[in-house]
Amino acid sequence: MTKAILVTGAGGVGKTTLSAAIAVRAARSGKRTLALTVDPARRLADALGVGTLGAVPTANPDLDLLWGAMLDAEHSWDAVARRHADPDVAERLVSSEFFRVAARHFPASQSYAASERMADHLESGEWDVVVVDTPPAAGGIEFFTAPAETRDLVGGRLIRWITGGPLPGRRSIFRIAGRPALRMASTILGSDLLERVAEFLFDLRTTHDSLSRRAAAIERHFKQASTLVVTTSDPTPMREAERFFRYLPKVASPPELVIFNRSLPDSWRTARPPAGTPPDLVDNLRRWSAEAARQALNREEFAVRHETPVATVPWQPESPTDLHALENLLTAAEGLEIQGL
Ligand SMILES: Nc1ncnc2c1ncn2[C@@H]1O[C@H](COP(=O)(O)OP(=O)(O)O)[C@@H](O)[C@H]1O
Ligand SMILES: [Mg+2]
Repeated sequence: MTKAILVTGAGGVGKTTLSAAIAVRAARSGKRTLALTVDPARRLADALGVGTLGAVPTANPDLDLLWGAMLDAEHSWDAVARRHADPDVAERLVSSEFFRVAARHFPASQSYAASERMADHLESGEWDVVVVDTPPAAGGIEFFTAPAETRDLVGGRLIRWITGGPLPGRRSIFRIAGRPALRMASTILGSDLLERVAEFLFDLRTTHDSLSRRAAAIERHFKQASTLVVTTSDPTPMREAERFFRYLPKVASPPELVIFNRSLPDSWRTARPPAGTPPDLVDNLRRWSAEAARQALNREEFAVRHETPVATVPWQPESPTDLHALENLLTAAEGLEIQGL
């Protein structure tokens, strides 16, 4: 069975970097590995070999068994509609103006489309390990809630939003169309407005069964995956990390491990300057020593509060963007044990 490793956390904490590093480690250990990455920096994209090819998995030229692909979060409702509706219905849906409005008011559809891509790769049978750098929308939670939200939306929420109630039958649409307010709207927006809205809603509803089944399959993947939450020891990303402990158990497996990225070495807490060190360096050392102690305390409190194992990944002087640097990053990590890897 393919193992899914979902790397999540607040923006800017190192999700893309760490998911790449974990994929490199998996490939090195002999596993056919796909790194699904979101928005990698140019040099990291090059190192993964996804520089030009985008959504199609590409073999890494420098490391056997490592493949990379972009997880395109921009990939929108069009793909979802084409997958779950008959071809002619899908065509009508994607060219409907209401479809555009709904997509705009419902950004989770993009995360949902990305989760379908992830599921396709997990089910392809081609991989031992798929490492997913999850899209950052809504602090990263949206990727996990998008299947249920999309199912609800197509199953009735959008219909209630537009009609203020359940979807009326085709015949009563015309009775409703006779109401003065709507007659006026139709005069302004086109005489067939209501028919067009109704057609859109009926079309959309045909996707519900297929989409519900797919959403349920995606949620099963979430539940079987190893979910890793990345944070730094700063208050804002830590607060974001806490949200995953509240929300993930509802829709996915609870976080398996919290990774504190950009950590200072524990040994700095007790570092003492040798005699004769210039005063400005002594000052500097004291500051970093205090910072290392603060980080360690934050990690310990987090681990106790959430009863979770924590790992540390060191703060490197330079952005780790090539395969060698990614590998070194994890060699210097502590506590980074991932089940089945
Ligand atoms: N341990 C680290 N040491 C130094 N720089 C890091 C480390 N981890 C990540 N970075 C750098 O921090 C920036 C943000 O990392 P990135 O992986 O893009 O975060 P995210 O995907 O969570 O937004 C990048 O420039 C990356 O190279
Ligand atoms: Mg990223």
